[in-house]
Amino acid sequence: MTPKLELHLHLEGAAPPRFIASLAKEKHIDIAGIFAPDGSYRFSGFAEFVKIYEAACTTLTRPEDYQRLTRAVLEDQAQHGVIYTEIFLSPDFCGGRDRGAWREYLQAVREEAAALEREVGITMKAIATCIRHFGPDKARQTARCAAETAGDFLVGFGIAGVETMGKLKDFRWSFDAAREAGLKPTVHAGEWAGPSEVRDALRDLGAQRIGHGVRAIEDLALVDELAERGTVLECCPGSNVALGIYPSFRKHPIGELYHRGVKVTVSTDDPPFFHTNLTREYEMLHEAFDWDEGVFATLNRTALDAAFCDTDTKDKIAKRLEAAHV
Ligand code: HPA
Ligand code: ZN
Repeated sequence: MTPKLELHLHLEGAAPPRFIASLAKEKHIDIAGIFAPDGSYRFSGFAEFVKIYEAACTTLTRPEDYQRLTRAVLEDQAQHGVIYTEIFLSPDFCGGRDRGAWREYLQAVREEAAALEREVGITMKAIATCIRHFGPDKARQTARCAAETAGDFLVGFGIAGVETMGKLKDFRWSFDAAREAGLKPTVHAGEWAGPSEVRDALRDLGAQRIGHGVRAIEDLALVDELAERGTVLECCPGSNVALGIYPSFRKHPIGELYHRGVKVTVSTDDPPFFHTNLTREYEMLHEAFDWDEGVFATLNRTALDAAFCDTDTKDKIAKRLEAAHV
């Protein structure tokens, strides 16, 4: 199987519905309404997605829940050939932005990731995210948690959530604090809002990578700028199609962005919510744009160059990629 890198996956959003349902049962939390009769997550549109996502997170109340979740998610990714992954997790959900609790959650995730690296050969790094619709004050607390735990495992700081709420410049303090601690910035932008959010992410928060970023396509001057700067987009086409931003893979702008020289990568975002996985994303891109192993090798090389990890890790992953392509 082609080895793959994934840069954009939310740990909470990768929780299989069965996993969440069993925690809910164990803890007597009534969230039956978030599931369809077939056991999958039930939602329609982004607002409802956010609502049931956060309801699912109410079952993740202990570091050991995150530990088990990490195992489930990494095992699944490894089955799809992922050898390196950067995973978002949020101090908002890991102990409610309490710095002591966050340390324990992060340590649990880190230890399990180390075990999975030994067992199935997948390397994980973490990106702490603040949640945009929780507002800039809570983001500051999130950033403090993140800054204190920056290191060789926690390597980035991001912002997810409802992009149409608030202004990115109001999160500058948080991104500055994270950057000073050595965390690299990625910003969800240009998914639900247009190209101006992508411009704000670059200008106001110094984003090195953009989460999604696909609506940059509505402003070709911005597309040229992204190509020139070499800004990497963490594209998640299956997520965008599932949420109705684009009607199909064929109509998804990743093809044109790539064609115009923008550095794109492919990820799954919240796979069980969107009924996807990385194997399916590759297959759909092959069908839509006739992308072949050569293109996928380029995308993986782009992801490796844009990864937030240390150079020793990059060298190790590079060797594994090279070995697969000789
Ligand atoms: N967009 C915004 N917020 C999110 C997403 C997303 O795709 N996934 C999880 N939180
Ligand atoms: Zn996302």
